[in-house]
Amino acid sequence: MHPMLNIAVRAARTAGKVIVRSFEQLDKVEIESKGTNDFVSSVDINAEEAIIETIRKSYPDHTIICEESGISQGSNDDYQWIIDPLDGTTNFVKGIPHFAVSIALKVKGKLDQAVIFDPIRGELFTASRGKGAQLNGFRIRVKNHKELSGTVIATGFPFKHKQHTQAYMAMFGALFAKTSDMRRAGSAALDLAYVAAGRVDGFFEIGLKPWDTAAGELLVIEAGGLVTDFTGGHNQTKSGNIVASSTRLQKEILKEIRPHLGEALSK
Ligand code: IPD
Ligand code: CA
Ligand code: CA
Ligand code: CA
Repeated sequence: MHPMLNIAVRAARTAGKVIVRSFEQLDKVEIESKGTNDFVSSVDINAEEAIIETIRKSYPDHTIICEESGISQGSNDDYQWIIDPLDGTTNFVKGIPHFAVSIALKVKGKLDQAVIFDPIRGELFTASRGKGAQLNGFRIRVKNHKELSGTVIATGFPFKHKQHTQAYMAMFGALFAKTSDMRRAGSAALDLAYVAAGRVDGFFEIGLKPWDTAAGELLVIEAGGLVTDFTGGHNQTKSGNIVASSTRLQKEILKEIRPHLGEALSK
């Protein structure tokens, strides 16, 4: 295993322990609101601190970008860690056991290492640039569907961006009409990991942040899939609008999404 992936795995497992311990005593967890429908708990913060500490010990000069504490600029900006300490906070605070730790490393602007850890199931998804993607050490691959018929597509509702509800529902409806079924499980990181593992055939969501998608994007690519924005371009990190699937299915998903984009989502 690449030494930096090894550190990422150690950090993710340490955060996983913090998260599971608190999940068993949810009544003690403090929850605050960051904005409309946007929550953060003491566990998000504690898990993030545990991850930063692990990475800082080995790589004191790297830049670290985290959901909760923001950017900590390192003297060596060639290495950027992008961290979501707890993806699926709404599930976590409601007692729904589906959430993950997501850690990615970019080297000179390119995704290089990725870990998504589901601490409840003990599932560790990893990827290294050019080396494929694994689940608990076993190779995983994106399912190579040609058409939407027979597929299950994961998605996230735009609960922080309710101005896009109408457009989103139109996209959802167009896809729902052609697929077998859809899933809204509540963790974008796991949605992407599940695309990589072939558990779902595709994923799309509006308005995600770099920490939601960085590790998942490398997993999908290394598992043989494609990640784009809603126009088929590669502006997904900036726009936050993301589609992931096999190369062939991507065309079919985009065909259903495109007519409903409007100006706001055409990026
Ligand atoms: C959220 C989850 C959710 C997605 C949201 C994300 P958080 O991340 O990934 O599935 O629909 O857009 O913000 O806030 O729980 O880390
Ligand atoms: Ca959050
Ligand atoms: Ca997230
Ligand atoms: Ca989070």
